[in-house]
Amino acid sequence: MSERIFSPFSLNDLLLSNHMVMATMTRYRADQNGHVTDRMGTHCQHRASAGLMNAEPTPVCAAANGYPYTPGIFTHDQAASWRRLTDAVHVADVHIFV
Ligand SMILES: Cc1cc2nc3c(=O)[nH]c(=O)nc-3n(C[C@H](O)[C@H](O)[C@H](O)COP(=O)(O)O)c2cc1C
Repeated sequence: MSERIFSPFSLNDLLLSNHMVMATMTRYRADQNGHVTDRMGTHCQHRASAGLMNAEPTPVCAAANGYPYTPGIFTHDQAASWRRLTDAVHVADVHIFV
């Protein structure tokens, strides 16, 4: 039964490579303008053996930002800055939700 955690899991239309899900965790590693940094990519790459990852808390507008150095996704530059991180985890066959 314990091997089941390593077996694939269907989450609606996503096929996860295993049953492990990484919880969202506040790391404060974005830059001061809410852009994703290389350090964040490294953090996620190190954890990319999960089936599904939750990204860190991500403000969807300036008024929603409760913490410094969290990555935003409400400007075009912020959205673009996620690309290297998501590309890196997708190489490892992991899905990531923001
Ligand atoms: C926005 C947000 C930020 C979080 N940041 C952290 C964190 O920095 N460290 C942490 O241990 N849990 C953090 N959590 C909680 C975890 O995501 C997770 O819910 C918690 O560890 C409990 O896990 P469980 O629901 O599986 O019991 C955060 C949750 C949210 C919604």
